[in-house]
Amino acid sequence: MQKVLILDFGGQYNQLIARRVRECNVYCEVHPYAITAEDIRDFSPIGIIFTGGPNSVYLENSPKPVQTVFELGIPILGICYGCQLFAQQLGGKVTEAADDSSREYGKTETFFDTSCKLFKGISESSVTWMSHGDYMEKVPDDFSLVAKSAACPHVGICNKQRKFYGVQFHPEVSHTENGTKMIRNFLYEVCGAIGDWTMDDYKRRAVAELREKVGDGKILLALSGGVDSSVTAALLAEAVGDKLTCVFVDHGLMRKDEGDEVEAAFAKWDLNFIRVNAEDRFLAKLSDISDPEAKRKIIGEEFVRVFEDESKKIGSVDFLAQGTIYPDVIESGFGDAAVIKSHHNVGGLPDFVDFKDLIEPLRMLFKDEVRTLGKVLGLPDYLVMRQPFPGPGLGIRVIGEITKAKLDTLREADFIFRDEIAKAHLEETMNQYFAVLTNMRSVGVMGDGRTYDYTIALRSVTTTDFMTADWTRIPYETLDRISVRIVNEVPGINRIVYDITSKPPSTIEWE
Ligand code: XMP
Repeated sequence: MQKVLILDFGGQYNQLIARRVRECNVYCEVHPYAITAEDIRDFSPIGIIFTGGPNSVYLENSPKPVQTVFELGIPILGICYGCQLFAQQLGGKVTEAADDSSREYGKTETFFDTSCKLFKGISESSVTWMSHGDYMEKVPDDFSLVAKSAACPHVGICNKQRKFYGVQFHPEVSHTENGTKMIRNFLYEVCGAIGDWTMDDYKRRAVAELREKVGDGKILLALSGGVDSSVTAALLAEAVGDKLTCVFVDHGLMRKDEGDEVEAAFAKWDLNFIRVNAEDRFLAKLSDISDPEAKRKIIGEEFVRVFEDESKKIGSVDFLAQGTIYPDVIESGFGDAAVIKSHHNVGGLPDFVDFKDLIEPLRMLFKDEVRTLGKVLGLPDYLVMRQPFPGPGLGIRVIGEITKAKLDTLREADFIFRDEIAKAHLEETMNQYFAVLTNMRSVGVMGDGRTYDYTIALRSVTTTDFMTADWTRIPYETLDRISVRIVNEVPGINRIVYDITSKPPSTIEWE
């Protein structure tokens, strides 16, 4: 399989570069910039991409790759800082931009030489996303200028013979109009990519490798029903079937029918599926507790206790499987395989599970690839396209004290909300949406009688990173249908409100 090496110089969009390359059906990995020449040769990439970074190349201690990287005969694409590295390390000169005319931030009209392979097939001018305070005062002699802006003649440089290309802007961000096309051109026109990275192939290879690694060993996996652990379970089930034991802890804080749906999805594989119906245990621990942090802590700890009890029954296993995915690996600073996902549901497991080795079959995949793999493995869309769902589940969506009756009420209201969003085909416009049962009661009138019932709050956000989020502009007609249905169909609810706060200042969840 062909591979591209992405050298990480600390830029904020590095994961995005890797995702773009993978979207072009070319496998890539992100490695620290200080990788040795020998390791680069061993990796044997068809091309190398230097990322952006926060430093200035002319400073003494700024990150630089080994000089031999330029002597390996491998094509290189330098982005922003990565482009300035060419200039600096191959005989040009980079300096701090003296005035605003050469310092560029944001969307910038850019002009391209479309005879250059990097810009083949794109229009001669379009918008790019710039973010640089340094500029290339002198471009190395053997480089030609292939893109410019009004402020800067050196926006794109290339050395056609050596297959080195550099751009000051960020082709990986969506604000750059033809960015993905440029990355695709680098891969296919310059590096000779054939597009051999597909999830069908990945599945075949992963299944073969897992069979080889696991042999006759036993594997234990804590299945939460989330996308990552579900796809991990499906892949392992496909590869080694009955050597896998999945422990699915149903804490009674799931959405309507969710526990049964998770169980049904795995029925076709011959694996040991243990569903622990622990609702009573969880609700007993949560009774009289209304502080959000206390609820989270109790749910997290109880989850570990339940899993502990089950794993003791199973005894020692050879492997503990985890649904770690590539962003976890990159964000944890390329640590060793033993980095345990900080998700509270699985935190601390290795303390009491006796196992020889960890198995993390999704370690090199991005979230969208995990979803595609899930589909290839035949998991239902319901599981694969699931929106994020917090570990403590509905426990943090029933405001204040939790009771079974309140959970059931919330489950019905939340189901109607999701059902109407699906019927209106609005799922694409929102990234997370759910109902919250407030602990506020108010007066209403139904038929001829006065009611004094609870208020349901609807929450929907549109976001890419979940760190910031905007509330979704759901059409009034849809909100109206949801409101009418919930008050008619769910006893105990007489008022519906829609949360119109962004994050910040609010958070996405209410607790
Ligand atoms: P907030 O409410 O902090 O949520 O804006 C951001 C994202 O994180 C999810 N979330 C959690 N996920 N355990 C989880 O696994 C938790 O305790 C938890 N709290 C919030 C939330 O659903 C949203 O996607």
